Order: sequence, then C-alpha cells, then structure tokens
Amino acid sequence: MKNHQLKLLSGFLLLLGIHGNLFAQYEAKIDSLLRIMTLEEKVGQMNQYNGFWEATGTSPSSGDAKVKYEHLKKGRVGAMLNVRGAENVRALQEFVVKESRLGIPLIFGLDVIHGHKTLAPIPLAEAASWDLKAIEQSARMSAIESSAVGINWTFAPMVDITRDARWGRVMEGAGEDTYLGAKIGVARVRGFQGEDLSAPNTIAATAKHFAGYGFAEAGRDYNTVDIGTSTLYNIILPPFKAAVENNVRTVMNSFNVINGIPSTANAFLQRDILKGEWGFDGFVVSDWGSGAEMIDHGFARDTVDVAVLAANAGSDMDMESYAYVRHLKRMVEEGKVDIAYVDDAVRRILRVKYELGLMDDPYRYCDPEREKELLYHPDHMATVLDVAKKSIVLLKNEKGFLPLEKHQKKIAVIGPLAADKTSPLGNWRIGSDDGTAVSVLEGLSKYTENYTYSKGPDFVVGPIEFALEAKINETDTTGFAEAIRVAGASEVVIMVLGEHGIQSGEGRSRARLDLPGLQQELLEAVYAVNPNIVLVLMNGRPLAITWADEHLPAIVEAWHLGSQSGNAIAAVLFGDYNPSGKLPMTFPRSVGQVPIYYNPYNTGRPGPKDEVFWSHYTDESNKPLYPFGYGLSYTHFEYSGIHVDASNPKAVKVQVTVKNTGKVAGEEVAQLYIRDRVASVVRPVKELKGFEKFALAPGESKTVEFVLTDAELGFYDNSGKFVVEPGEFDVMVGGSSEGGLVGKFELQ
Ligand code: GLC
Repeated sequence: MKNHQLKLLSGFLLLLGIHGNLFAQYEAKIDSLLRIMTLEEKVGQMNQYNGFWEATGTSPSSGDAKVKYEHLKKGRVGAMLNVRGAENVRALQEFVVKESRLGIPLIFGLDVIHGHKTLAPIPLAEAASWDLKAIEQSARMSAIESSAVGINWTFAPMVDITRDARWGRVMEGAGEDTYLGAKIGVARVRGFQGEDLSAPNTIAATAKHFAGYGFAEAGRDYNTVDIGTSTLYNIILPPFKAAVENNVRTVMNSFNVINGIPSTANAFLQRDILKGEWGFDGFVVSDWGSGAEMIDHGFARDTVDVAVLAANAGSDMDMESYAYVRHLKRMVEEGKVDIAYVDDAVRRILRVKYELGLMDDPYRYCDPEREKELLYHPDHMATVLDVAKKSIVLLKNEKGFLPLEKHQKKIAVIGPLAADKTSPLGNWRIGSDDGTAVSVLEGLSKYTENYTYSKGPDFVVGPIEFALEAKINETDTTGFAEAIRVAGASEVVIMVLGEHGIQSGEGRSRARLDLPGLQQELLEAVYAVNPNIVLVLMNGRPLAITWADEHLPAIVEAWHLGSQSGNAIAAVLFGDYNPSGKLPMTFPRSVGQVPIYYNPYNTGRPGPKDEVFWSHYTDESNKPLYPFGYGLSYTHFEYSGIHVDASNPKAVKVQVTVKNTGKVAGEEVAQLYIRDRVASVVRPVKELKGFEKFALAPGESKTVEFVLTDAELGFYDNSGKFVVEPGEFDVMVGGSSEGGLVGKFELQ
C-alpha cells in the first residue's frame, strides 16, 4: 500500500474511533449505494454546477443549459450552488429525485459569509469583537436564514490567515493571527453546523481556502504563493486543523499554487495532511473553476489532465471546471485514476448528504413558510446589532472627545458614506438586498436632530456591478464648498469616510491603502475650518490613515458592519455602548511597510542602531500605526500583579489582575502572548496564546488566569513534527500586542 494510502487508512481508523457510532449509522447504507451505482453516477456525485435553471419555470431546451438539464436527469450532478429560494430548490430537488435512476438528492451550496438577508458585520469586523460567543451566534443566525431558503451548505468560514491589507479578501477572514483565527474559525463552524447537522436550520460549513491563499504575493488576488515550511505548518495550517478537529464537514481548496503545485492537485495537502494525518472524513470541493485554471498555471495540459490530476490528489468535487463530468469516467476506465479514489470521494459526499438528513428527506430545507417567517427576523436584527457594536474599535480619543453629549448642538455630518445604506453591508452578500443597512444618519437621528448633513463630493460614480470595479470619483470636487461651510458653522464634525462596500472582497486588491478618491482632500479641507473632527471609518481592510491619526482628536473603526451599521455606530458615538473591539489585523503607517504584522521573527539585526546596518527603512518607521490587539475604551483598564507558576511544565499558569480604573463600565480583552527565546526553528518575537473578554464595572477588579500547555508552547519543526522544547520563555499580558506586563519562566 502506498504511503498516502496508508495515511488515508490510518486517518480513517482514527476517525472510526472518534465517530464510531456515526460511521456505523451511514457506512452500511453508503456501501450498498456504492454497490449499485454505475461509474457514471459515481462521477456525477463529484460534479457541482452553478444554478442555470429556474426549475419553477420551463425546462431548458438548448445550449449548455440543456446539456446540464440532461445531466441532472441522468444523475450526473451531485451538487449545485447559487440556487435561490426554497421553491426553486424544491423544484430542482424534486426533478433530480424523481427523474434520476437512483434519486440521490442534490446538496445546495451558497456563499453565506456573514448572513443571508439579515447581514452581520463582515468577518474581519466580527473578528475585532474577539467575542467567540457573539461570533458563533452570528453564524447561527446565518444558518437559520440561509437554510430557510433551501441552502444546506455554506462556503464559509474562510480561515485563511493573511498579513497583507492590500489583498481584497482580508475582509472575509479573521485577520493576521493563527491562534485567534483558529478560535474564530471554530466558532463559525459551530454556529453554522450546530449540534445536529440533520436539523433543518443547520448547514454544513466549509473551511476554505486550503491552503495558503492569504499569502498571495504582493497582496494581489489569485497570485503565486511561495512560502517556507515553518509558515505553512505554524501559521497557515492550524486554523484548518482546528476546523477539522471540530467536525467541519467540507474543505474548499484554493486557486493558488503553493510552492509550485496548485492546491487542487496537491496530494501532499489534500491526501497526506488533510485526509491522512488529520483524518478528515468530509469532502473537498474545488474552488470555482480552480481545476481548469491548472491549465493556465502550466500544470495541466487540458481538462482531461485536470480530471486525472485533481482526482488523484484528493479533490472530491469539481465546482464549475466540467473536468470530472466530461472525462473522469473514461480516465478510470483507462486506469489513469484508481476507482478506489472515486469510491472514496463519493463515500465522503454521500456521508455529508446523510448527515444533513437529505437522504431521508430531500425537501427538509425547502419550506417556503420558514422563508417568509425567518428572513429579516427581529431576533436576527438584534443578533447582528449586538455583534456590530462589539466589533467597533476605538482607535483614538484625545481628551475624552468621545462620547458626544446626547443633545449636543451643531453637529456637522460629512461624507457620502454617512447616508449610504448599501456600502455598510460590505461585500460577499450574495442573497442580500441593496439599501437595507441602517445608515449612520439614521442611527444618529435616534440621538439628536441637531445635525446638518453635507455629503461632500460624490464617492462612487456610475453603477455598482458585482463583477466590476467601483468607479471612484477622483476629480469632481462638487460639494466641497458646502461641506466646508457646514463644518465651519458647527461645533463638532462627524466625518464618515473609507471604502465602498465592494472595494474589498474577491478580486478587489488595492496597491494603495489611503482613503480612496477625494476623501483625504475633503478631510484636510474640513479640518482647516474645524479641527473638532471624529473620523468614522467604514472599510474592509486596514488603511494607512496616518495623517488622520496625527491631526484628529477621535477615530472610530466601524468597518462594514452589516444591516445594523448606523445603530451600532451611533450607540458608540453617544456612549450607549462603550467600544470594546481590538484590531485583528495591524494597521500600517504606509503601504510600503506591508506585509506588516505583530509577530515577525526578530532577524539578526533587529536594531535600532545609530548606524544604517540594521533591519529598517530609511524613510519610514518599522512601527505600525496601530498594532494587532489594540483598541481603546471610554474607561481605563490597569494590569497588575503578573504571576507565573511553571512548577508543572504541562500546565504553566499565568495570572494577572485587571482593574477598571475609569468612571464607566466597559469590556476588556486581556491577551496573553509568549516568546520562546531559543528554539530549533526561530520563533516569533511574540505569539498570541490566550485571551479572555470580560466586563468590569468602575473600580471592579478581576484576576485572569491563563494556562499554557504543550499545545500553546510547542511548534511545528521543518519536518512538520509538533515539538515542545525546554528553555526560556517570556510571557506578556495586556490589552494589546504592544506593552503589557512581562514575566518569564524556564520550561523544564
Ligand atoms: C469564489 C471564491 C470562493 C467561493 C466560490 C463559490 O471564486 O473563491 O470563496 O466560495 O467561488 O462562489
């Protein structure tokens, strides 16, 4: 037996131990189904089509749609994506169940990334809450709404770690840190899948994109990924491993090559690690057309080659490359693909269909009454408002500029995003409706009528198209004079600036990280007549807002907060909610520093030195504008009394006392970082290995205890082996990745 087949078997046996009863429940049924399926029907299960037919309407009679319609009829399709509405899903499912020979139901996938109709904050914003319960609750809400429209599988959570704010898809993940990213990824998997995957309001989750997509060179989407072993094992893989250990049911591979091999045909990743070492028992779906893209990569000659390379490497389902449906049967017949691989893929796909309850009741997720009752449900609005408030990060607040008094006179509100009811919804909102977000103006009006709004220049010129760039106004200054006049006649200015909702997301990488269009000019022009400005940022990525930080008294990071955006922002501005968010990603001073992140290796010349021969820039600081883990509050938290007890090397205890020394209640995120001072593979200058979010009343104290075990103290060496090495460790505890109290211990 080949090495990876051994690993596959060992992984399967591992899983048998874990899921014993579950396996027994379905394996026998799957065995008997496999025995009667033709090779063509088996390959059919491995084929996923995008929605091409409103099945409540007339049947396709020509062209591609006709071909796909016939494939549905013959059981040559196992899954669909982007099919909308419970009625449409039911009609399609009925057609396949009744027309195909074996009547195996379809599984319906959709990008339910941060909600369906009711939208939560974009995932990067939610990550800033560091509130795992709120994040899980948000994913739960997404599962309830999307399952009500017939969806039983979401292509989320994206667990790609990335350190590059230029990459458009930073908005879709949990930022730059592996430990936080893994915890958040698991919270999202649990929220989507719930306790019972067969329930009609839980859906299968997808850990994506496996692997390394967030390390695209130069932050340019779909670009090459070339990384070292240590980065792969210690930074990129752990969030996927955590998702697999928490029973994520599917994994999506990635568009990129990783060290020269496209992920879709990467047997090392998919068979040796994912299915072998980790014992993953769900199925792997390709990304959209990622199989066929191996031709452009220069890895496959044609789609026949694609079918062979992808199937042999453990890519179980083909999304929109048409390689399996056209060529895989013949490739098996010609001996180029082992039937055992096809059987394994089909087994995995059928297993998830059984777990979802589809094999017992194909229409379980198709209840139009639930659709009417649950979409935009008030409970869901409450859920997304709660997590939106918790996601806001207070970046600057000089001399208590915020919160504003509730009936403060003469407030100017300036900037096109202040009235925008679509941008706050963010990108990756396939099922949502434009114009459904609570705008900043609508939120403010709940606190004061004494404001004057001036839009300033248009922000986006022309229509907003899903697949096209937003055209940003960079020339037309109409609106400047009025904005300046309104600002000059007011006591306080709230400026709402940032990025349009589709300036981040897939295909939206930026080479610059400044405020797009004329916004910086507008900000400086307003500042010249009234410096009492609070900047409310609406953005899908870290921005280099250094001028604003140097000049303005207050800055609030409000991301794209989803349906309840304006209400959450207003609650923070007027003090009804004390901001508690912490940055999940470093903000740079300038784009030239990128990739910049809190936990680099120290290098051999960390500096600073009085000469030039150390690792630095001649024209920029090495320091970020705002570090990972940073976020202010309307109160103050004091850390004291750090104590480290390393008497038990398997459970090193770190204690610290946190006190609210301010005048208002607030929530703090106490963060624990370690540094392994000397190791067989160099270790970062610090690594997040614990955090706890809690509320404290004014004057209240709390002793926080962290326990460091092998899991936190170890790392993967360059052979992929997890090791724990004795030696000296530093620990740091505080409310950010910078500063905090320091302790030491010797690990025996
Ligand atoms: C896209 C994305 C992937 C998404 C898939 C289906 O190109 O890369 O994240 O789930 O296609 O829409």
